[in-house]
Amino acid sequence: MSAVKHFLDLLDTATLRGILDLGDSFKKGAGGTPLTGKTLVMIFEKPSTRTRVSFQVGMQQLGGQVVVLGERDSQLGRGETVADTARVLSRYADAIMIRTNDPEKLRQLAEYADVPVINGLTDASHPCQLMADVMTFEDHRGPIAGRTVAWVGDGNNMATSWIHAAVRFGFSLRLACPSELAPDAGAVQWAKDQGGDVMLTGEAATAVEAADCVVTDTWVSMGDADAEARHALLEPYQVDEALMGRAAADAIFMHCLPAHRGDEVTDQVIEGEQSVVFDEAENRLHAQKGILAWCLG
Ligand code: CP
Ligand code: NVA
Repeated sequence: MSAVKHFLDLLDTATLRGILDLGDSFKKGAGGTPLTGKTLVMIFEKPSTRTRVSFQVGMQQLGGQVVVLGERDSQLGRGETVADTARVLSRYADAIMIRTNDPEKLRQLAEYADVPVINGLTDASHPCQLMADVMTFEDHRGPIAGRTVAWVGDGNNMATSWIHAAVRFGFSLRLACPSELAPDAGAVQWAKDQGGDVMLTGEAATAVEAADCVVTDTWVSMGDADAEARHALLEPYQVDEALMGRAAADAIFMHCLPAHRGDEVTDQVIEGEQSVVFDEAENRLHAQKGILAWCLG
């Protein structure tokens, strides 16, 4: 394959710190409009608020433009292959972002596209969010290396990207999940093989003890069918003030949003002083400008 710079997952991108630094410099107002004349096509097979708007605004701020394809807008929804779509879009656009259920579609898109492909979330991972999350932690608490993050709840796509981030950015990650909703075993094994500091437990209190950051996510991700069973399994994993009280006194609370108050997090915690969820949402814009400039650099 050519040297096209895809952004598919944190585990296979070598220059994450450089991308974050680039995002930070855009955030501080430097960098100008390096993507003038460039076009990003965004394919959404699932809903989105943050990813869609932050990529569109980010691309425009960097001088470029976007074309957005929803599920019913393109021939992909009528059975045109990913491989053909990739080759056609590569003739018009300078980069492609996709949000889809199946990580295999992302892989195929990257295999057949001649332009950079960006993972805007699959059922397996959400790496753009993690770039914003690391940026947010560091904005508030300084370098994340050597610090401790507690993930509480569903071992979902976000949990997998937190595992990748723990290894790549050198922090300790403790995940508290019910065994039925454990994080991806392949990601956990990869972290172990890399010498990462990733610990699994069934107890929310154990994971959160003295942590510098507490993170959770929705109990029912896009595409999950078994909402009732998930609520029953995840009820002991709600992040409330008592649980936050076990973390370090200056711990921050993060959530990629959208949040479901009263389920995975209480209103008091998400609206409380330790919550940085809207800084986190803002940093999607800055971190992704770093990703776009790196991919198209
Ligand atoms: N956090 C996140 O990716 O949000 P959206 O689903 O709104 O894009
Ligand atoms: N785990 C969630 C993340 C949403 C940004 C989902 O996949 O729906």
